[in-house]
Amino acid sequence: MNNKILRHNTSDIILHWFNALCWFLLLITGLGVLGNHQINPLGKWFPAMMESLCGGAECLLTVHEIIGLVWISAFLLYLLLNFRASMNFLREIFTIHPRRDLVWLLKKPLQLTIGNKAMRRLGLNTELPPQGFYNVGQKAFAQPAVILGLIIAVTGIIMFLSDKVLAEEQTVLVIWSIGIHYVAVGLVTAGLAIHIFMAAINIEERPAFYSMFSGYVPVEHVKYHNPLWYEEIIQEEQSLPDSGTSRTQEATGVQEQSTADKI
Ligand code: HEM
Repeated sequence: MNNKILRHNTSDIILHWFNALCWFLLLITGLGVLGNHQINPLGKWFPAMMESLCGGAECLLTVHEIIGLVWISAFLLYLLLNFRASMNFLREIFTIHPRRDLVWLLKKPLQLTIGNKAMRRLGLNTELPPQGFYNVGQKAFAQPAVILGLIIAVTGIIMFLSDKVLAEEQTVLVIWSIGIHYVAVGLVTAGLAIHIFMAAINIEERPAFYSMFSGYVPVEHVKYHNPLWYEEIIQEEQSLPDSGTSRTQEATGVQEQSTADKI
């Protein structure tokens, strides 16, 4: 475990993979209940297959609703139990540094597509502006994922309640909810394609991918990819009363949980 820093604690890891599983199940059941074939990206065959697998359209809708309610409840429970960590996460992803982050957003896609060599040939400096716990590319996915996730949950609840407690005159609200729910899911799914590529397929980010299982990330990776976070860790170490015995893990082992909790 030497030379590693705690990046994600166990509850965050469980929540992330639980969320990913729910998203997968909600997507396939959601595409299964999408009756209008003209806007179903998978056409007619997919709803037909899902309905026959589930024993009918009504049952499929019930499964979709149950998974949705479990997904929402788990997030509410997590928020209640980990309020401080949740606020820290929100503060982290919604903090941006426009100039620095814009340069990063312009350079990173160039690095990934044409590569450093071609960038240098074009006279471009290949060094990326330093980033904190999350880079701005991750934030650009996390921000809409959180906001649209909230919208998906609220519109989902309105649709769920539509035939149970809502009155006739609330039909317009339900119709809007259906449209907004569909568009919000589409937007997050488009972002997910990039998120999964960057997090799980891109070799450079492999240590961060493994950290979503083990919790830990190598110090060298943090120094290179998240230098501002690394600086925060060092500063925190130095401000601790017993900093004489360095807790910086290059020397002694694993980063204390308290530091990672702060992020
Ligand atoms: C197979 C599916 C998925 C994989 C492989 C994956 C992978 C990862 C990894 C490795 C991280 C940690 C990155 C780091 O520590 O730097 C992460 C973070 C995150 N994931 Fe996922 N994820 C998946 C699905 C999802 C889904 C479905 C959502 C939500 C709709 C989601 C939302 C997030 C958010 C908000 C973060 C924090 C910010 C970020 O790193 O972008 N992930 N994911």
